[in-house]
Amino acid sequence: MTDIVESAETSTLLDELTRMPGREDPYPRYHRLREISPLVRAEDGALVATRYADCAAITRDPRLGHMPSHMLDFVSPGWNDHPALRQLFTSILTINPPDHTRLRRLVSSSFTARRVQALRPTITQMVDDLLDEMSGETDFVTAFAFPLPVNVIGELLGIPPADRAQFQHLVRDWTQVLEQINPAVLETADPAAATIRAYLSDLAADRRSAPRDDLISALVLAEEDGEKLTEDELLTMAGLLFAAGFETTTNLLANSLVALLHNPDQLALLRDKPEIAREAVDELLRYDTPVQLLTRVAWEDVEIGGIAVSGGDRIVAYLGAGNRDPQRFPDPDRLDLTRPDNGPLSFGGGIHYCLGAPLARMEAEIAVPALVRRFPELRLAGDPVRRNSLTLRGYTSLPVNTGS
Ligand code: HEM
Repeated sequence: MTDIVESAETSTLLDELTRMPGREDPYPRYHRLREISPLVRAEDGALVATRYADCAAITRDPRLGHMPSHMLDFVSPGWNDHPALRQLFTSILTINPPDHTRLRRLVSSSFTARRVQALRPTITQMVDDLLDEMSGETDFVTAFAFPLPVNVIGELLGIPPADRAQFQHLVRDWTQVLEQINPAVLETADPAAATIRAYLSDLAADRRSAPRDDLISALVLAEEDGEKLTEDELLTMAGLLFAAGFETTTNLLANSLVALLHNPDQLALLRDKPEIAREAVDELLRYDTPVQLLTRVAWEDVEIGGIAVSGGDRIVAYLGAGNRDPQRFPDPDRLDLTRPDNGPLSFGGGIHYCLGAPLARMEAEIAVPALVRRFPELRLAGDPVRRNSLTLRGYTSLPVNTGS
């Protein structure tokens, strides 16, 4: 069996990925890490996987999961007293079976394919309205990439239109805990999480007394095998759905636009053949992956990529690296909207597979072709500004000129 590599070079590469310019273009560093070894140890002890096959296996292996709460108490003492950490560590994203199974079943009974499909005409109309309002020089994140998903998830959950915009900063402040947990981060993340929760609590109370045809009402009423969500579980679920509903999709839309503007032949292809939207979105999800990594903990000794991993080891699967693995994707750094046999890791896999994948796909499949068809002269009008995050890869600002 091969040993886990930990060297000065791997430490430098991993360190660079969390800062500029490494964060701007992580892909060469991922390639180098993958060449050195399928599994390298970071300075904090976590094991980092960069191959497609290993990342896929990590998402599906039932011997890998999330930290049970007794371990969390040890690693993140007092987490339960922090609204930002409670909201994260008690959500389906980071809990284990059997609680995960129960909550996932309850939310799936409300967040159905039918409910998502019913949004198609609304999304098409929203895309048209937002494109109508864009002209000349504008910031694509502010004008389109944020308002579309926040209004879609707002519509689905039942959040009144006037209330939606305030959540951009609140969710950004809260999700900093995905990147790092320290007192400075918690100082802004905690009040943000508490504000989101208080808002959703009022909304849930309203729907309890007068249910409507929205997802919050469906969650309030959801019942499977005689079980219902507790008030706490309901608010955590609604908070996660709302945040995950726009945060990642905003990044997919902005990353997609930059990828297309840098590859004019592919942009022209999509403009001329909007019927390739589905495969195009798969490739855009692969090429500049909005959620770059996910984390797990080994509950027992396992083997990853032929390397022995001890029970208790923390593991980071770099989905963004797996999606550029040349063993899986020929010429991986090329954007090829008609790439055959695509299968990006971008929505994860296994029991935590992204619940919102069909919704995110539908939004992108409608929005991206419509955007490039509406503005044939669309171009960058300044330097895009990357988000300060490796995990959630996107832009805070993306100046464009619509050419109209
Ligand atoms: C889980 C990515 C959009 C809700 C995940 C995971 C990934 C992901 C990688 C798995 C995390 C893990 O296993 O640790 C994305 C991307 C999106 C997107 C790239 C957009 C481009 C959405 C949307 C929603 C959503 C629109 C909700 C409306 C969720 C939820 C989970 C999840 C609830 C947790 C599922 C579970 O743990 O059982 N997402 N997501 N996501 N996503 Fe998404």
